[in-house]
Amino acid sequence: MKTDITAAERERLVEAAFESMKNSYAPYSHFNVGAAVLAQSGKIYTGANVENASYPAGICAERSAVSCAVSCGEKRIAAVAVVGGKDFKASSFCAPCGICRQVLREFCEPQELLVILDDGNGMRKEMTLAQLLPESFGPDSLV
Ligand code: THU
Repeated sequence: MKTDITAAERERLVEAAFESMKNSYAPYSHFNVGAAVLAQSGKIYTGANVENASYPAGICAERSAVSCAVSCGEKRIAAVAVVGGKDFKASSFCAPCGICRQVLREFCEPQELLVILDDGNGMRKEMTLAQLLPESFGPDSLV
C-alpha cells in the first residue's frame, strides 16, 4: 500500500479538491464540498456533493470521488482531501460524514489512509481514517 505521500502530492490533492468544489451542486443546503482521492495507482480522482430535490438522494463529495475512482478501476485509496463551506467558500474544516468514512473504509487500511482537511484560510489538519473511524467494520470483518 502506498503510504509515502509527498508534500507535492498533498498540495495537488488539496488543489484538486478546491477545483472540484466549483462543480458542487448544492442548491438546497448551499454548502459546497469538493473531495479528491489519491488512488494506489498514483492517479487523482475528484468528486463534489450533488444534491437532489428528493433530499436523501443527494450524495457527498467524498463518495462521489470514491465512486469515480472505483468506476475507473481503482481498488485502493491512499489519501483523501476534503474542503467545503457555504456558497463555494471554504471557511472551516469540513470533516467527512459518517457514511463517507464507512465508504472510504472499504478501499483502504484505516491506519494508512491519510485524510487532509483544508479550511480555506491556510490551515490544514491531517489524520488517518483509523482516527476518524476507530474499531471499524470492513471487508475483513465478513471473513
Ligand atoms: N457533505 C459532503 O459532501 N461531505 C461531507 O462529508 C459532509 C456533507 C454535503 C452533503 C450536503 O450536500 C451538504 O454537504 C450539506 O450537508
